[in-house]
Amino acid sequence: MTGQGTPFVSLDDFEQHAMRNLDRNALDYYRSGAQDMITLKENQRAFDRVFIRPRVLRDVSTVSLSTSILGEQIASPICIAPTAMQRMAHPDGELATARAAKRKSTCMVLSSWSTTRIEDIGDGVKWLQLYVYKDREATRRLIERAQDSGYTAIALTVDTPYLGRRLADIRNRFRLPPHLTMANFADTGKAQVGKAEATSAADNASGLAAYVASQIDPTLNWSHVEWVKSVARIPVLVKGILTAEDAVLAVNAGVDGIIVSNHGGRQMDTVPATIDVLEEVCRAVDGRVEVFLDGGVRRGTDVFKALALGARAVFLGRPVLWALNYNGEDGVVEMLNMINEELRLAMALAGCVSVADITRNHVKVPGQPRL
Ligand SMILES: Cc1cc2nc3c(=O)[nH]c(=O)nc-3n(C[C@H](O)[C@H](O)[C@H](O)COP(=O)(O)O)c2cc1C
Repeated sequence: MTGQGTPFVSLDDFEQHAMRNLDRNALDYYRSGAQDMITLKENQRAFDRVFIRPRVLRDVSTVSLSTSILGEQIASPICIAPTAMQRMAHPDGELATARAAKRKSTCMVLSSWSTTRIEDIGDGVKWLQLYVYKDREATRRLIERAQDSGYTAIALTVDTPYLGRRLADIRNRFRLPPHLTMANFADTGKAQVGKAEATSAADNASGLAAYVASQIDPTLNWSHVEWVKSVARIPVLVKGILTAEDAVLAVNAGVDGIIVSNHGGRQMDTVPATIDVLEEVCRAVDGRVEVFLDGGVRRGTDVFKALALGARAVFLGRPVLWALNYNGEDGVVEMLNMINEELRLAMALAGCVSVADITRNHVKVPGQPRL
């Protein structure tokens, strides 16, 4: 509910609230995409071009959203994507998000750049998102700390050898507020964003872009995937695949899952919407590993479409930040309740009583007029 008593009716309402409530440094960091933000907008618009082919007269009095990801049971195929620095949205940051995920029995992916330590996240289904640092030992420690703390997978982000050019962050000289740190790197010299780096980067005044340039390994290549797999005793996914070619390489490299993602339009601008490349990736993978999607998922019907086109589950990025800002843990639960109920209704009205009932024949994709 809003302060005025008008009920929130869609995920967009959480975003509108955050627009009024967050300071510019945080708001712009959270909402921006790279460059002209073509991909950012396209992620959402592309869902509108996919249409649902409903089946009727199917007794939809009971609909179950439950499913499994990498063998772990979750209550719904709507999970939480890694987003950095959540304490800018709410003082409880990632702790609140994790508690909400646990209450909803879904999976949360913690960012390497969280403002809460890996070890401080409570139990629940949790994966760690990994950035590969130039400092290989620091990277190894992240993997080991996650394993020791009950995380069940590593999602290696492969689309960020450099940070995308986010114009608002450059204008704002984005920095992590001084009372916050990248908590996983306390006392390593890698915990601050937007101090020395911002002044030394003549061509990009975003503190985060400078941080990435100084800390993250731009040689990132397939040998790093093999290295992460050799260190990790838990499944490894790659996050940021957008083509059939790379999907095949990923499967051949032995990954346990693929997340089709364009980083919420924040890395390379003008790459396609994720929903538009999902099927290409799924065809190339041919069932050998589970395929996930993030980017622009805002409605239950979006989730339905992604599942119909082959995703095992989807991940939400920004909506979690808006909900966190609105009301911490309870806000994230409220947001997840809303989109889960939207998915339940979409499934019912399309004649599906379980996630397994959702098939390719339930959607009509542009350029493919016939089944
Ligand atoms: C503010 C913000 C911070 C993010 N931080 C990370 C990160 O640390 N690591 C990562 O792999 N992806 C990160 N992402 C990308 C998300 O994991 C996800 O791919 C994207 O947000 C999904 O799109 P959506 O925001 O439209 O749901 C971030 C996205 C946002 C909006």
